[in-house]
Amino acid sequence: MDKATAVANPNIAFIKYWGKAHEALNLPANPSLSMNLAGLTTVTTVEFRPGLAADSVVIDGEPAQDQARQRVVAHLDRVRALARTDRRALVASRNDFPAGTGLASSASAFAALTLAAGRAAGLVLDEGALSRLARRASGSACRSVVGGFALWEGDGDETSFARQVAPPSFWELRDLVAIVGREHKGVGSQQGHALAASSPLNAARLEAVPGLLALALDAVRARDLSALGPVVEADALAMHGVMMTSWPSLLYWLPATVAVLRAVRAWREEGLDVFFTLDAGPNVHCLCEAARADEAERRLRRLPGVLDVLASGPGGGVRLVDYDLF
Ligand code: PMV
Repeated sequence: MDKATAVANPNIAFIKYWGKAHEALNLPANPSLSMNLAGLTTVTTVEFRPGLAADSVVIDGEPAQDQARQRVVAHLDRVRALARTDRRALVASRNDFPAGTGLASSASAFAALTLAAGRAAGLVLDEGALSRLARRASGSACRSVVGGFALWEGDGDETSFARQVAPPSFWELRDLVAIVGREHKGVGSQQGHALAASSPLNAARLEAVPGLLALALDAVRARDLSALGPVVEADALAMHGVMMTSWPSLLYWLPATVAVLRAVRAWREEGLDVFFTLDAGPNVHCLCEAARADEAERRLRRLPGVLDVLASGPGGGVRLVDYDLF
């Protein structure tokens, strides 16, 4: 079988990965903890075909351009090297959520590409090996390989991959993503990571991470949102503080981003337990228990500047499906 199709979900980090310890190997400056997001999906089909002169990469119906194409081809090269083949590939990929707006589309994209390409090339990789391979293409992709709640740690190339902390069924947490901007972000996380070290706040954030991570892990294991939420907000703000104070500075927030952050805190004062986090984009991920999700979503939709709300909960790991996109 030279063709395979895989489905993956993006993930939202509770403790963020921002900055690299090793650029080429994609080793992170700090460990991170995330939840996969059910219902938001990337589907990717890969077929290695004899006689093709070059890889063909189609994303959401359009031929991939420049950097996006190069990243896919570079990852196919890693798979080809492992499988000892020089066959070129046909790749088609489809997202059902907006790319490039802080919804971690590279995480689901490279998790799905890793499994589809690996299987199409005849590789048999266990979850750790898949996660490690996905990491090379996009750090956060290593967490999307694993279902549910995932911890990415480990210092070296061999040991740096994500492991499951708890399966999706463990906790009925909800992530309501308030969409306040749909434009592709100006500076993607690939360039952003390289700027982290230029911020005077970076060292302070990295020093705080181990303590916050330990608290976040305990809170996830205890299904305790009131313990998890403040930690998640603290690290999201610390990461955006690093971004804003990098040189050059990265400012992902829109006016409506700030409006959502303030509203979430005001609702908490009123007794509605919701906590926020953000990736490298303007959209705000609002975490709450399933029982509070309808009320929180209603309130989010009423806020000026909120264009849409995507409701999600804990999702599964990357998996093969028996249809294809060709
Ligand atoms: O995996 P990358 O290189 O796209 O970086 C992800 C960076 C953040 O989304 C901002 C944080 C994270 O840990 O997901």
